[in-house]
Amino acid sequence: MRILVADDHEVIRRGVRALLAAGRDCEICGEAVDGQDAVEKAHQLHPDLVIMDVSMPNLNGLEATRMIRRSLPGTQILILTQHDSQEMMRQALNAGARGFVVKSSVAHDLLNAVEAAQRGESFFDSAVIPQASSSGPADAEAELKLVRAELEVRVSRRTAELRAAEASLRVLSGRLMQLQDEERRRISRELHDSSGQALAALSMCLSMVEREREKLSERAGRNLSDSTRLVRELSQELRTISHLLHPPLLDEAGLESALRWFVEGFAQRSGINVDLELAPELGRLSEEMEIAIFRVVQESLANVHRHSGSKTAQVRVGRDVQKVTLEIRDQGHGLSANGNAEAPGPAVPGVGIQGMRERVRQLGGHFEIQSSEGATVVTAAIPLLAAETATAGKAAQAST
Ligand SMILES: Nc1ncnc2c1ncn2[C@@H]1O[C@H](COP(=O)(O)OP(=O)(O)OP(=O)(O)O)[C@@H](O)[C@H]1O
Ligand SMILES: [Mg+2]
Repeated sequence: MRILVADDHEVIRRGVRALLAAGRDCEICGEAVDGQDAVEKAHQLHPDLVIMDVSMPNLNGLEATRMIRRSLPGTQILILTQHDSQEMMRQALNAGARGFVVKSSVAHDLLNAVEAAQRGESFFDSAVIPQASSSGPADAEAELKLVRAELEVRVSRRTAELRAAEASLRVLSGRLMQLQDEERRRISRELHDSSGQALAALSMCLSMVEREREKLSERAGRNLSDSTRLVRELSQELRTISHLLHPPLLDEAGLESALRWFVEGFAQRSGINVDLELAPELGRLSEEMEIAIFRVVQESLANVHRHSGSKTAQVRVGRDVQKVTLEIRDQGHGLSANGNAEAPGPAVPGVGIQGMRERVRQLGGHFEIQSSEGATVVTAAIPLLAAETATAGKAAQAST
């Protein structure tokens, strides 16, 4: 085994050299005088093991350990330090060290630790982990404690990784929702501005021809009437699609008007009788909040139409000083009846339910869907504070 010794005290390096002379298959391939030097020499020499002090100038041993473990995973690190606390040992393990020996017990433990490293095992100083005696069971106990300490470190590292992954996923889904809204708004405007305008122009051209209808043959006159009707239907359809993608009322007149317009149109298109109840003091909310509430109502009613079989639904939007509450209820056959017949319990959520949940969560709110035979209720509560602050912030920005 090729060993690099890193310690800023020459006397320690000399002592380690002498101690290892007694070990089997040990070769000291280099010495480093500080942490920085240890990292550089490790990269030059590719040792199997680095015996590393903690308190060293330039770069401390824990940092040096971290750097070496990152770039040279085949190199093991054995910490040799004056610090005899369990916390320091935990830090060493956290940095990626495989063994830990306190200088006060170096004479007794160093060779054992190096031999453990040769076998690919960890070594844990008995001075740091108190033992009942140095007999077999105590060794096993020390080994157990080492394994536990290592596990703890691994678990906390994984937990931190998971938290980071979850946070970035949240940022990503928030960004995706925002992009989806922007894209819908863009397509909606495009439909209105280009195709919508072209149809309006076409309709005007047809009405010019209409003025000279008497000059047309009977067949041409029929075709003219058909064309006029088709253009009217087409522009109505286009307007509905464009407004469902992004209702202009939402920007111009606010959530209340947009919801009234949407619910009325939905009832006409679907034949479902929807009762809409809005808090009298609903007022204007932040743009994010108005879009989120509108989309939750839109998606929930789409689900009522597609999945519930209900002929009635109720939408309620309430507001108090702290929050806006939302409830969409139907009298259909409930979630479980629609789901995967082989899976017990409620249906697997599709994009719709997950999207609603995420939108509400992005605003710090609470989303729930409850279902029984005979009813499904979607509820959401979104705190006002953040949204109002956002509105106030925007208003302040706009006025500057
Ligand atoms: N009001 C409801 N009544 C009965 N079943 C419902 C209701 N809402 C949702 N479901 C069930 O829950 C499932 C998941 O709904 P979700 O909106 O997430 O997805 P989806 O409607 O199937 O697809 P999409 O992603 O297009 O919305 C639905 O497929 C349906 O089986
Ligand atoms: Mg859906």
